[in-house]
Amino acid sequence: MILRQLLPALFSFLPHTKYDWNFTSVNDNYTAQSHTIKALNLTCGRVLGGGSSVNYMMYVRGCRGDYDSWARAAQDDTWSYQNVLPYFIKSERLEDPALLKSSAAIFHGTSGFLGITRENRQETFKYLDAFQEAGNKIVFDVNGRNSIGYTLPLFTIADGIRQTTAYTNLGVNKGRTNLHVLKNTLVSEILFDKDNNAIGVKAITADGRVLTLLARKEVIISAGALNTPKLLMLSGIGPKQHLQTMNISVRSDLPVGTNLQDHALVVVAFKMDRSSAPPKPMNPHQYPIPLIVGYATINKSRSCAEYQVFNYIVPNDSEIPYQLCTFNLGLQESLCRHLLEAGKGRNMMLGFLNIQHPKSRGRVTLRSKNSHEPPEVNLGTFSEDEDLEDFVSYLQDYVKVMNTTYFKTVGAEIVDFEIDRCKGLQFGSRQYWRCYALNTVSTMFHYAGTAALGAVLDSRLRVLGVQHLRVADNSAMPTLTSGNTNAPAILIGEMAADMIQRDHPVHHYKNINFFI
Ligand SMILES: *[C@@H]1O[C@H](CO)[C@@H](O)[C@H](O)[C@H]1NC(C)=O
Ligand SMILES: *[C@@H]1O[C@H](CO)[C@@H](O)[C@H](O)[C@H]1NC(C)=O
Ligand SMILES: *[C@@H]1O[C@H](CO)[C@@H](O)[C@H](O)[C@H]1NC(C)=O
Ligand SMILES: *[C@@H]1O[C@H](CO)[C@@H](O)[C@H](O)[C@H]1NC(C)=O
Ligand SMILES: *[C@@H]1O[C@H](CO)[C@@H](O)[C@H](O)[C@H]1NC(C)=O
Ligand SMILES: *[C@@H]1O[C@H](CO)[C@@H](O)[C@H](O)[C@H]1NC(C)=O
Ligand SMILES: *[C@@H]1O[C@H](CO)[C@@H](O)[C@H](O)[C@H]1NC(C)=O
Repeated sequence: MILRQLLPALFSFLPHTKYDWNFTSVNDNYTAQSHTIKALNLTCGRVLGGGSSVNYMMYVRGCRGDYDSWARAAQDDTWSYQNVLPYFIKSERLEDPALLKSSAAIFHGTSGFLGITRENRQETFKYLDAFQEAGNKIVFDVNGRNSIGYTLPLFTIADGIRQTTAYTNLGVNKGRTNLHVLKNTLVSEILFDKDNNAIGVKAITADGRVLTLLARKEVIISAGALNTPKLLMLSGIGPKQHLQTMNISVRSDLPVGTNLQDHALVVVAFKMDRSSAPPKPMNPHQYPIPLIVGYATINKSRSCAEYQVFNYIVPNDSEIPYQLCTFNLGLQESLCRHLLEAGKGRNMMLGFLNIQHPKSRGRVTLRSKNSHEPPEVNLGTFSEDEDLEDFVSYLQDYVKVMNTTYFKTVGAEIVDFEIDRCKGLQFGSRQYWRCYALNTVSTMFHYAGTAALGAVLDSRLRVLGVQHLRVADNSAMPTLTSGNTNAPAILIGEMAADMIQRDHPVHHYKNINFFI
């Protein structure tokens, strides 16, 4: 039997369910003021597989330069692109025949656990042409040599099933006698001996029992970029001043929770051609709507994208844009209603444009010593004004597609959300887009950087100042990658697994698949 949450078409229904931590960002009284709660709901997987079980299923590795800068931050070439590439290949099972026949095939794996397929619906073709006419390159595979251009995305979908890491990696290890999984159990503290060696964890079960779990070799934390810093701080690892305010004795004074990064997102909607045919019925085993992804730069001498844009090709009368706008992004109903109007009898293109390398930094802190309390998350979006100004340039660059033959032929129009706070500003001007971006800014849910390599962790993912404690999740990223963060998270897992194997050789296991 297939669990409903493994059906790819249902991704937008997973937030605010029992699979979500339901975290909310702090209202900064500046950004996101056109949202119902004037803050952002930070969807976060509370389920086996974490983010891979609730995300939008994009397989994007990022750009060569991203990993080279990690290597510099970690002062260890282990993290350079050249050295991480084999681990990407190891985890992947690409199932796209065209890509496997292409010259980009050498960048891909075919025997990993993670099944990958590719967008191939013909509705996308005329849009690719339009973006090309607007001056963009069309790239067959952004995970290969070129990271800039418009492309048909790769999905973590195979055999009609969402490839969560629970399904792919845990699933294949189900039979192992040395693997024990406790569900609905919250780790509340990392335990140490008097010499600062991590010796285990304290955990609380759903029915309130407190368990002490001891480790023979080491403790590995993979709670994600919001919960990992919370757990570290509850265990005395974090900024001294903050821990003292919380009455937590300091075990290691480290900048845990700082350096929070996220890909800030702004949605632009386009009314496209009048529809002539009723839409095809939705296949629950497929990505629900055709998609093109663009990776672009304003500064043409950059090799990693400055912005990324998801272009959803939406059939007429679809409720998907409204659902994404209200439920997933949390924008005010009065704005989102314009999407329902715009889609009447017309197909639409919905652009999710997001900044790749923000200068702004946010912070995760504790609200109290209570491990059941959610962390306080201040995203810091646009705290560096340069990010907002850059965003305006990205939006203006992106909407140039309006001047292409196809967009002109169908009489394309940009949907005006009639944002109160932007009244009186000239539509399309820099001031207009600035106001638009500031008030409607949302999140790509790509939280990262809160226990970074080189600052909180050494280059082998070990927490500084203590022993036998490692972090293996996106907290470890010194800087965000260009693109979605699921594939990089899996990479960090693969790297961690390899480091652990090297540190604790276990020659008597027969079935371990050593790489290289
Ligand atoms: C998140 O909210 C949903 C719906 O309100 C609820 O069912 C779920 O239990 C919540 N998750 C947590 C961790 O509280
Ligand atoms: C936002 O404004 C409210 C009401 O004035 C205030 O209580 C809150 O502290 C402010 N938030 C921040 C982050 O400054
Ligand atoms: C810390 O301890 C002091 C003194 O016991 C108390 O007044 C204060 O409320 C505590 N702070 C927190 C955040 O628990
Ligand atoms: C979409 O457009 C077609 C043709 O104009 C129309 O027949 C149909 O009712 C519209 N809506 C849906 C949901 O198909
Ligand atoms: C453009 O990018 C190059 C390469 O990263 C950089 O050296 C240069 O300063 C950038 N130019 C501007 C105007 O930002
Ligand atoms: C955001 O989260 C809050 C608290 O969990 C919830 O009440 C609200 O409905 C959510 N907002 C949206 C737009 O889903
Ligand atoms: C379309 O081209 C005209 C003429 O070059 C220009 O003024 C206008 O700003 C362009 N439109 C967009 C949306 O870029």
